[in-house]
Amino acid sequence: MKVLVVGAGTMGSGIAQVSAMSGYDTVVVDVSKEFLDRGRERIMDSLQRLSKRGVDPSTVLSKLTFSTEMKDGSGAEVAIEVVPEKLEIKLDVFKRMESILSSGSLLATNTSSIPISEIASGIERKQMLVGLHFFNPPPLMMLVEVIPSKFTESDAMERALKFVKSLGKVPVRLAYEVPGFVSNRVFMRILQEACREVEAGEASVEEVDSSARAIGLPMGIFELADYTGIDVIVDIWNILKQRGMVDVPCSMYSKKVSTGELGVKSGRGFYSYPAPGKFVKPKLNSQPKVPPARLLSLAVNEAAWLISNGVVRSSDIDTVMKLGFNFPKGLVEMAREIGLREIENQLLQLSSKYKAYSPVSNFTSILS
Ligand code: CAA
Repeated sequence: MKVLVVGAGTMGSGIAQVSAMSGYDTVVVDVSKEFLDRGRERIMDSLQRLSKRGVDPSTVLSKLTFSTEMKDGSGAEVAIEVVPEKLEIKLDVFKRMESILSSGSLLATNTSSIPISEIASGIERKQMLVGLHFFNPPPLMMLVEVIPSKFTESDAMERALKFVKSLGKVPVRLAYEVPGFVSNRVFMRILQEACREVEAGEASVEEVDSSARAIGLPMGIFELADYTGIDVIVDIWNILKQRGMVDVPCSMYSKKVSTGELGVKSGRGFYSYPAPGKFVKPKLNSQPKVPPARLLSLAVNEAAWLISNGVVRSSDIDTVMKLGFNFPKGLVEMAREIGLREIENQLLQLSSKYKAYSPVSNFTSILS
């Protein structure tokens, strides 16, 4: 089977690599040779690391073609768009994809913030479009969220789920689309609470990150912001805000973007890195200071909202956080261990000041 991936950035090249590693003939299309070369380098670097785990780089590379011509993707049964988060750019890509693909091809977008239904509204074969939301770095992260738009045919959803499984990934299917899906709604809440703590003078950036690592998260919260790209975070946050998610005042992330400190990609964010794009784990010299119940409070409240609105089950939230963010345990699982009442108390303490902290009604029974 042939797979077309449009966009050779961090996520696009990673998804193409996963596709090629699964044996699919994979065509990567981008607008310039320079972007394609950078994508190829990223893939080679990743394959080199994976060679220790038995992956043969040359076999994978033989499955990949890089091109600036969309027509080289013709004959693909699955086409995934992984271009910048601008609706007009995405619509242009889908228009060009539709012109070369057969009407039965599955169309997918890896958007992390633009509603799938908004993209689908602007394309011809809206019933064939699904959201396939991968996580960074795609070769290592096991999760893919599978999101229907209001137009998606059930057959397209079934094919998407089958495709994700064929990549060796674990799909989590949302019953219906909500802005930010499951992952980014929860992720934004973690980032918002971390920001609030620092701006309220409760802890420093390093103390927050030490607290996150102390409960077993693979990265500190600000470290993960750097790793993801602070500009990406600000974009997602703005889109969620515009679509009605209750905000938490915080200026740290947008200030970083305005000074060009975008995280790993620019060589500097909350921490400094040896070169743009080169991630080296920051050394933390501070002790954990934030109680786990407070650190996770807003995220757990978001989980309760997602469950009470029938978007996913609590076990799906656990899967999302374990396989999409490498949490040591599921978020709901961790919340139960920390104590739901204790988390609710943290929320109540902050709710008079910030609306987002008002516990979802029946908070403890939803999560029990
Ligand atoms: N390809 C292949 N191997 C890689 C790799 C890549 N891209 N990146 C790291 N590795 C390997 C390293 O080579 C190393 O291998 P060895 O153990 O064999 O030496 C191993 O992974 C561990 O790497 P590091 O020692 O550099 O660092 P680490 O232990 O912190 O692991 C990590 C790195 C796997 C990324 C881990 O920190 C982690 O899971 N972090 C959380 C990532 C996360 O939350 N991602 C989701 C972001 S949100 C998102 O993507 C969605 C959105 O819409 C914004």
